[in-house]
Amino acid sequence: MSRRILITSALPYVSGAKHLGNLVGSLLPADVHARFHRQIGSEVLFVCATDEHGTPTELAAARAGLDPRHFCDVEHARQAETFRRFGLSFDHFGRSSAPSNHALTHHFYRRLDAAGLIAERPVPQLWSPVDRRYLPDRYVLGTCPHCGGPDARGDQCDACGALLDGVDLIAPRSALSGDTRLEVRESRHLFLRQSALVEQLAAWVDTRHGWPAFVTSLARSWLTADLKDRCITRDLAWGVPVPRPGFEGKVFYVWFDAPIAYIAATQDWAAEQGGDWRAWWWGEAARQSTYVQFLGKDNVPFHAVSFPGTLLGSGEPWRTVDVIKGFHWLTWEGGKFSTSQGRGLSCEAALAEHPADLWRWWLIANAPESADTDFRPARFATEVTKDLADVFGNLVQRVTRFAHAAFDGRVPDGGEPAEAERALVADVAARVRSIHDRHRAREFRQAAAETRALWSAANAYVQAAAPWAALRGDRARAAAVTRTALELVAVCAAVAWSIVPTLADAAIRSVGGSAGRTPPWPVDIADRLLGSRHAGATLGEPFEPVKKLEPIAVAAGS
Ligand code: 2FM
Ligand code: ZN
Repeated sequence: MSRRILITSALPYVSGAKHLGNLVGSLLPADVHARFHRQIGSEVLFVCATDEHGTPTELAAARAGLDPRHFCDVEHARQAETFRRFGLSFDHFGRSSAPSNHALTHHFYRRLDAAGLIAERPVPQLWSPVDRRYLPDRYVLGTCPHCGGPDARGDQCDACGALLDGVDLIAPRSALSGDTRLEVRESRHLFLRQSALVEQLAAWVDTRHGWPAFVTSLARSWLTADLKDRCITRDLAWGVPVPRPGFEGKVFYVWFDAPIAYIAATQDWAAEQGGDWRAWWWGEAARQSTYVQFLGKDNVPFHAVSFPGTLLGSGEPWRTVDVIKGFHWLTWEGGKFSTSQGRGLSCEAALAEHPADLWRWWLIANAPESADTDFRPARFATEVTKDLADVFGNLVQRVTRFAHAAFDGRVPDGGEPAEAERALVADVAARVRSIHDRHRAREFRQAAAETRALWSAANAYVQAAAPWAALRGDRARAAAVTRTALELVAVCAAVAWSIVPTLADAAIRSVGGSAGRTPPWPVDIADRLLGSRHAGATLGEPFEPVKKLEPIAVAAGS
């Protein structure tokens, strides 16, 4: 893998509270990966944005009594703040409604049109005489023609997951007024001729490696099934206007412009920070990097088929994704998360309960990588307490407390490493290498499991070497063990930093390291654990105990 890496997380919809499922399904693993790559010295660009167009935004803005632009301003700021508190280290957190994205969406539309990949077709649409408007996507509700679910929306049925067309709904009604006397009227729309791109896309998928197996098979199933041309315009007011005669008052479909915002957000990052966006997205320079997308499994078709179709169809040398890291769902006590229905926990409510790192740890240690993960409050409390308070916290505290008491708050000098330390070095070096490999392979659960195992091995070393016992008769031995143990704490913290940055920083500070910056990935294990380069250095402020949670310490709700 190259040393330049572009990381994007699926863009969270601007409307609605984001919950723990949104976090673990793309944003958090993307952050952990970005942090890890910064630690190993890669040049990282990590971008995301709010996904601001479409019917959910228009409807939510109307409910809030705000115009969509104002509504998006408020909600974008709110999400940015929540994600900052969760420690998400975006290089840029942009907006799909930004002028850059409007311009780029127009650019892609024009290129695709020039390549003959846009078709204009009449489409039967539901029209409400009461609302005096078309009812695209979520503006219409009704009974699902596939499963009979009563509350299917015009774009999708949540009960069975089927993608729908409003006119197929049984007993459709307006989501605005409840109007049931809907008419079917013809409206002209633009289609991206995905059917003309199937071969090119299939060949492209064949050249991608390192995707989770379920992602590749989902992508292939979309490409082998009779791939439908995608309608990329809507009869809506809020969105990117369609620059074509006869399309006044229409906008592009949100799923057309949203992924383009990965590029637009990079342009905005470059404009703000003086970077070169082309180096990440255009031509030969961009090919010298690796591009990884993080997203939930429902987003796979858009990232494995539609967006690459836009990029490849343009005929220009845009960077396409190398690895799609898809995730399954996080469920809440066996059911779907739905903060609007009080099932699950919003990110904001989670932060009101416990510090971000407790959530970060559990979610990454249980990331839904190969199957859904069920969140249960009692399980969360038990596991977080065991891993972070009893194993990691205990390690840091017992070592630093002892060093303060026995060696006056300094890294002790003197004493030679013994066989126990040499054995420790071999063991720790192998573990740290393996954790590194897990992170690089984006195997998050395994990375966390091996990090936890490293902490346990460190505790076992301290327990067996027992510097407090040595202190009674052999101060030099106690000094050697303490020095090694302090370095060991720093190593344990550094490899955990990408997952629990605040706790790791506190641990690094407590052993006298400088925190608040990206700790380099530890490579020189023998030198660190056996040498005495920090001898005499002053230890930092004491490490606060990690809160032990009662098994009922998390309340459901948003
Ligand atoms: O599913 C979602 O939450 C979408 N807002 C993801 C968009 S990802 C990207 F393509 F914009
Ligand atoms: Zn259904």
